[in-house]
Amino acid sequence: MKKKPHGVAAPMIAIDRKGEKPLHRQIYDAFRAMILDRRLPPGQQIPSSRALADELGISRIPVLGAYAQLLAEGYIESRSGAGTFVTNSLSDQFLGARPAVASVVDDAATDAISRVSRLLPLEGTPWFLGSGAFSVGQIAYDHFPFRVWSDLVTYHARRVRASSMNYSDPMGSQEFREVIATYLRTARAVHCEASQIMVVNGSQHALDLSARVLLDPDCPVWIEEPGYVFLRHTLTLSGCRLVPVPVDSEGLDVAAGVKLCRDARVAYVTPSHQYPLGATMSAARRLQLLEWAHSSNAWIVEDDYDSEYRYESMPVASMQGLDSGSRVIYIGTFSKTLFPSLRLGYMVIPPALVGRFLAVRQANDLGPSHLYQAALADFISAGHFTRHVRKTRQLYAERRNALTQALRKEFGPEIERAEMQILGAEAGMHLVVTLGPGLSDRRISARAAQEGLWLWPLSSAYVGANVRQGFVLGFGGTKAEDMLHHVRRMRKVMRDESGYRGRTESGH
Ligand SMILES: Cc1ncc(COP(=O)(O)O)c(C=O)c1O
Repeated sequence: MKKKPHGVAAPMIAIDRKGEKPLHRQIYDAFRAMILDRRLPPGQQIPSSRALADELGISRIPVLGAYAQLLAEGYIESRSGAGTFVTNSLSDQFLGARPAVASVVDDAATDAISRVSRLLPLEGTPWFLGSGAFSVGQIAYDHFPFRVWSDLVTYHARRVRASSMNYSDPMGSQEFREVIATYLRTARAVHCEASQIMVVNGSQHALDLSARVLLDPDCPVWIEEPGYVFLRHTLTLSGCRLVPVPVDSEGLDVAAGVKLCRDARVAYVTPSHQYPLGATMSAARRLQLLEWAHSSNAWIVEDDYDSEYRYESMPVASMQGLDSGSRVIYIGTFSKTLFPSLRLGYMVIPPALVGRFLAVRQANDLGPSHLYQAALADFISAGHFTRHVRKTRQLYAERRNALTQALRKEFGPEIERAEMQILGAEAGMHLVVTLGPGLSDRRISARAAQEGLWLWPLSSAYVGANVRQGFVLGFGGTKAEDMLHHVRRMRKVMRDESGYRGRTESGH
């Protein structure tokens, strides 16, 4: 009979058959060392004696001897019917302390490490990872077409062939790229052929690739002020020089950018829906930006992250479509239209740069995985994507209306006196509410996170000193009927944390 493969991975143990130490002692010593330095942590299952003997190519007897000794000394415990595990109750004192990683890092004061230390630390910024009311980037999971999607994923998982298991085209599957190109030409007025499309693991991957291809250390780069914090992280790692260019109601102020630094190599922009303040870049500014790029031999990276969702008018066409196709790198994502953990996005690369992007991508991750590309290509081709976007556009409009109404209800007089403003509610899945004088958004956000409210502080989106306080509020994942309740909770946190009084408290 064929042997069944064992389910628990065997730890690496170097056995010396000719050594002086008996085999059972070698096995015992190896396990003991791995348990003490936590390579085998408390609770981890260890292989059965038969499986380990098979793996090591020795008889079962020395393995049984070693396991008996480890059991007797309390390093491992057996649970009937389940197997053998590293003992759960081993105290920290008993186990070796973890090596001090920080001291290793401190010793190597390289440029790369100093750049890493400039990234916003995750500790003390709980809003980064929260999930729940107002969390930015959260979609309407409750309205996702699970059935259709999981049927397609299952179908393609069952049809796996040798060809789809092998390394595939690092640009992405041909079929999926054709589907994306058709969608972008039609829905986003992008000039593109499938040969210019690179499938990436979300926009963040595309932003990172663009920095690797286009930037040298110290070269100047325009970014929007305020702007997208994860873009800033990518650019900081590249070592380029950030030139924050102010945005106003028409988007990036190109004249201000030229004044600050005409010779920037790249401008990173979100023209369809400026992140986070929400302006749509005017046609005049788009043309001005393109003219600057052409005359300065600079590049424009257009991050078109949520343009499918626009509530007062039709979606605005891409800026890439206004260009002759040579200076704009266009980036899009399925994180908003489908779901963020899908990690699928795309970039449209000017033909002259395709080879360079491909070379850098191959040095970076060798290409996207097959399964979700296949499922999503079918999902789009069969019309499910368009239907889902149409449906969620209406849903998000309702959620957006509920949020703005709730904000007006709770903060009405301040909004009328313009001490507080609601910005950028015409599109996307978030809006900004600015705060009146004397309030610190970070302090309130930290406190709110303890209550399960995820208020992203607007001030963290600024690089320079001219900072506005406020919150970026996601509304995609919060039901319309719950919005007023959460806005009231937010107001309470503001009051508790900062003594915010606002209008008469008597009403509540
Ligand atoms: C400005 C901007 N770009 C891109 C993204 C999406 O990133 P990704 O596709 O990596 O999930 C977001 C998400 O919130 C965003 O705000």
